[in-house]
Amino acid sequence: MSNDKIKSLSPIVLPPLPYADNALEPVISANTIGFHYGKHHRGYVDNLNKLVAGTEFADMTLEKIITGTAGKADKTAIFNNAAQAWNHTFYWRSLKSKGGGEPSVVLKKKIETSFGTLDVCKKELATAAMAQFGSGWVWLVLDGNKLKVVKTGNAEVPMTTGMKPLLTIDVWEHAYYLDYQNRRADYVNAVIDKLINWSFAEENLG
Ligand SMILES: [Fe+2]
Repeated sequence: MSNDKIKSLSPIVLPPLPYADNALEPVISANTIGFHYGKHHRGYVDNLNKLVAGTEFADMTLEKIITGTAGKADKTAIFNNAAQAWNHTFYWRSLKSKGGGEPSVVLKKKIETSFGTLDVCKKELATAAMAQFGSGWVWLVLDGNKLKVVKTGNAEVPMTTGMKPLLTIDVWEHAYYLDYQNRRADYVNAVIDKLINWSFAEENLG
């Protein structure tokens, strides 16, 4: 699924989870998914639909709403809910049951060109996740022809600064608190080792 396929005209719909709510156990519990997808992600979509009703954004795709409101102080609430709706759909796709391991040859070569080794790339993801103060996201992105790890605060997305997201890890507390309490590093390392969906990242390269 490429980035530009995550779109839906108003009303924006909550896309189905791409797996069962217990598919990511034991790294992420069905209980966490129940709240994270069922309450948080759904909440962003519901809020967004209320906020855009009757406005110029009502019939736009999610991506158009995000780019149309980014950086505009009077549109912060719409941006935040639209970006969070998009980010979560992208996050669910960035994980899979029995993920982790090694990417396929094409992505692995690209990772080695940009980071030296896959291990360095994984360490940068984990380090960025810990360095993000408060809520936010860690991303593997394509910036020009180079892969990079970047972090964004709150609802911010890499697309608004010209970078193409390949995969993301949610580091808001709601992503891990029920399973890991305050141990963000344990959550992030387990996600990278056991759930990360390298083939989704590779699809997004194209
Ligand atoms: Fe989240």
